[in-house]
Amino acid sequence: MSSLPSVRPAVAELKDILLTEDQIRTRIGELAAEISRDYGGRDLLLVTVLRGGIYFLADLGRALAIPAAIDFMAITSYTADSPSGVARLLKDLDEEISGRHVLLVEDVIDTGLTSAYLLRVLRTRNPASLAICTLLDKTARRIVPALPIRYRGFEIPDLFVVGYGLDFHQRYRNLPYIAVLNEEPEISRPPAP
Ligand code: IMP
Ligand code: MG
Repeated sequence: MSSLPSVRPAVAELKDILLTEDQIRTRIGELAAEISRDYGGRDLLLVTVLRGGIYFLADLGRALAIPAAIDFMAITSYTADSPSGVARLLKDLDEEISGRHVLLVEDVIDTGLTSAYLLRVLRTRNPASLAICTLLDKTARRIVPALPIRYRGFEIPDLFVVGYGLDFHQRYRNLPYIAVLNEEPEISRPPAP
């Protein structure tokens, strides 16, 4: 028996639910249909960044109607460990990507600096194509202008959100929905552009 999706956050530190499980699932189905159509017959590799992207990658991948490989990278974060704005690769891909169609699967794009760094790294390896699929897009805080965001789940306002992979000090990633924190955690945010 399945339970109804929760309508209130289960945790006191959280404010409103921005996106429910149902909304996320429905939108992922739509994105997966588009991706399946666009990449049919191609050697598709879904790449995500640990740790925030794992839930989206897992659900998106299972909703695809076409075969796809998956792989993972890890980097230092601009927001926490690297206020100087220099990202560093902590874990590289296991797969070779030359000649393959790479879709970078992101939980959220905020300033765009992280994605820009990842694209720079991946592009040097000559993939057949390289595009981004992001679940959340915070366009208000974008610094990097021309990211190849080919698929976008939701454009959201300038709010700090947690759940479905997104964390506040490593907490809340496992929430099945996306919620707004009660307090704006300034400490974990990059400086405003
Ligand atoms: P960027 O500013 O686009 O480089 O995003 C950097 C990283 O900040 C993202 O990959 C997330 O890990 C984190 N981030 C940005 N916005 C949020 C948010 O609302 N909640 C949790 N993490 C966030
Ligand atoms: Mg992240």
